[in-house]
Amino acid sequence: MRHVLEIDDLSVPELERILELARRPVAEVPPLLSGQGVACYFAKPSARTRNSTEMAVVQLGGHPVYITAEEVGIDQRESAEDVTRTLACYHRAICARVFEHELLERMAAVDVVPVINLLSDGGHPLQAIADVLTIEAECGPVAGRNIVYVGDANNVARSLVLAIGSLGGKVTVVAPPDRRFNEVDVDRLSAAGAPFTYGDRPEAVTDADVVYTDTWVSMGQEGERDQLLRTFEGYQVDDAMMARNPDSIFLHCLPAHRNEEVTDSVLDGAQSRIWPQAANRLPAVRAVLQWLLEVNTEGGA
Ligand code: CP
Ligand code: NVA
Repeated sequence: MRHVLEIDDLSVPELERILELARRPVAEVPPLLSGQGVACYFAKPSARTRNSTEMAVVQLGGHPVYITAEEVGIDQRESAEDVTRTLACYHRAICARVFEHELLERMAAVDVVPVINLLSDGGHPLQAIADVLTIEAECGPVAGRNIVYVGDANNVARSLVLAIGSLGGKVTVVAPPDRRFNEVDVDRLSAAGAPFTYGDRPEAVTDADVVYTDTWVSMGQEGERDQLLRTFEGYQVDDAMMARNPDSIFLHCLPAHRNEEVTDSVLDGAQSRIWPQAANRLPAVRAVLQWLLEVNTEGGA
């Protein structure tokens, strides 16, 4: 059975097929989930991911069921494996936002229904698919584009590098030395054919087609907030940085911590495309669900 825990679970043709499904009008979406459920498990808060996932299930004719971590108590009330088997009794797929990526791997290993990563400490693949849709709509094909990611080499950055690299684009990461990818990340990104380079601020932005940032304090890191704010001093995306290339666009996965990693003036300015980017979360998750339902029904690849 196929699962989508990270972009490199997909071959390049599979990623391209998902992008093609995402571009189709809603009227052409088949009711593959008619009369069926999708479990939407959240161990962390969410606005975009929860709402886009629930509405994607509705557009596919199904019924989403929102489940909190407190309710099912994974590995406290019941093991992750038994929760997975239980949810599979009622649902065609499990979509889950978790702290540790390893939990998704345990759920997927049960192999009873497809599991989709709605964000873990490892990655955020649905965000990266929405980012590609946005870049294509705003700048044309990703191949040959330079995406300059300014900030923390985190879950969002990891999935972004994998997606952009798979499609022939390039990511330049501008991050403080102790917030760069670790050796395991570097090996995985290069094994997936998704090389990246490090650049300096603000010069790297001069060649950017896209300037991208994310929060400096990811969910679960709130206790390190003061230290992280000090580490990222000087990495804020502001008007002066965006002025290095007035033809570039600005993206942010959101939620933005206004005037920390990015200023209000950039978020709300002429180069910002954050709202089309947020809107693209819906076709992205719908396409992943559709692809997984189709590929697993066909007997899997
Ligand atoms: N970008 C994103 O995943 O947003 P939420 O945390 O609101 O779902
Ligand atoms: N890196 C952020 C992304 C939020 C969508 C986090 O993990 O909290």
